Amino acid sequence: MHRMTLVRRGCLSSASRMTLRSLSLTGTGTGTGVAAPSVFTPTARTLVAAASTATPTTASSDQSTASTETARKKRVLSGVQPTGTVHLGNYLGAIRNWVNLQDTYDTYFMVVDLHAITVQPHNPKELLEATRNGAALYIACGIDPTKAKVFVQSHVTAHAEMAWLLSCVTPVGWLKKMIQFKEKSRKNNEEVGTGLLTYPVLMAADILLYQSDLVPVGEDQKQHLELARDLAERTNYLFGGKKAKKMGCQYTRLFKVPDPFIPPAGARVMSLQDGTSKMSKSAESDLSRINLLDSPELIESKIKKAKTDTFDGLADGFENPDRPDAKNLLTIYQCVTGKTQDEVIADVGRLRWGEFKPVLTEAVVEHLRPIQGRYADVMQDQAYLDRVLMDGREAAEEEAMKTLMNVKKAMGFYTL
Ligand code: AMP
Ligand code: TRP
Repeated sequence: MHRMTLVRRGCLSSASRMTLRSLSLTGTGTGTGVAAPSVFTPTARTLVAAASTATPTTASSDQSTASTETARKKRVLSGVQPTGTVHLGNYLGAIRNWVNLQDTYDTYFMVVDLHAITVQPHNPKELLEATRNGAALYIACGIDPTKAKVFVQSHVTAHAEMAWLLSCVTPVGWLKKMIQFKEKSRKNNEEVGTGLLTYPVLMAADILLYQSDLVPVGEDQKQHLELARDLAERTNYLFGGKKAKKMGCQYTRLFKVPDPFIPPAGARVMSLQDGTSKMSKSAESDLSRINLLDSPELIESKIKKAKTDTFDGLADGFENPDRPDAKNLLTIYQCVTGKTQDEVIADVGRLRWGEFKPVLTEAVVEHLRPIQGRYADVMQDQAYLDRVLMDGREAAEEEAMKTLMNVKKAMGFYTL
């Protein structure tokens, strides 16, 4: 199916229903909090709501960067790993919010395949399939390739190269403090690959290569974002400014320091089987998550089996700390219906679990139905998908190379 057909069917445009108002910046950056090396103390600034609602342009700063000579649209970049299937957590925490940003911002969305091989051994056939499916799902969820750059991370080799440069600037203590690394290495009896440790450096490279202003992610990525900010400041301090000028660099501020962009609802969707742990691709039981491509029957059965509690009604479900499962299912309902918490409680607060579950099932199924339809359409036209990814690669590469060449020059590499 052709893009034009998708547009005619109202597929691509219908996805931008949510407004920017529903997003906000949350959290305060505390930095990685590690003992600073003597050359530099990384103190991440407080994460301010820079331009979440105001004009999305960045005025050129006194220190020029590789993508800001004059005022430009603020840039947004994000990605999801092609591992397993994309679930409701990925969608509500990240992808859905990307759709709202593409009209206003200069957006880059990639399938982060290099990040998908950190847990070894990975299955090459599955990686290949999940990468293609992931890109198709972005479009199915409403990313419009005529507005956003959609690409595959490994297609732009500057990511791997920048990750090496940055890894040499990263104290290993910063990486060992990362919660995800600690959790995963504990789970695997410390028998983990080096890639799992250096994973956040590659993520920082992804972000910093594009001089990104905002990075829309779920709550679990906040610490990785703080590391990216610290690395930007550290590299700017070590090699930027006057030092870069002396090296003949065109842009003296090497990296823009990015801000996270975390949605107020849906930033942490929890497991259907345990409202205290995150919905994740790696959880053993598929009953714990709703995948975007699950059939209505499967969604119904997963919600039927979802953990509940013994309280009466759902009226205090959002605020009662003893009701994590109620909060999670109500939040999912809130996100897929686009209602406020008050509207949700007015709507379903009186219901008992047995009455609420079918209502929730219908809301989820109806929300996912058009996404699944568009996904099937896109997957039928491989040539269209490849064209989108080639265009995305070209546009992304151009931006990434500007930053990479400038940073290499600042670091003293012999550039021709
Ligand atoms: P990953 O699957 O780890 O590549 O995650 C892709 C994106 O989905 C990231 O922005 C995550 O923060 C977000 N994400 C993953 N799991 C959840 C969850 N359970 N709730 C909300 N966001 C999530
Ligand atoms: N690490 C992120 C995750 O697991 C995925 C990711 C890789 C990413 N590079 C990124 C997200 C750059 C935002 C920006 O979810």
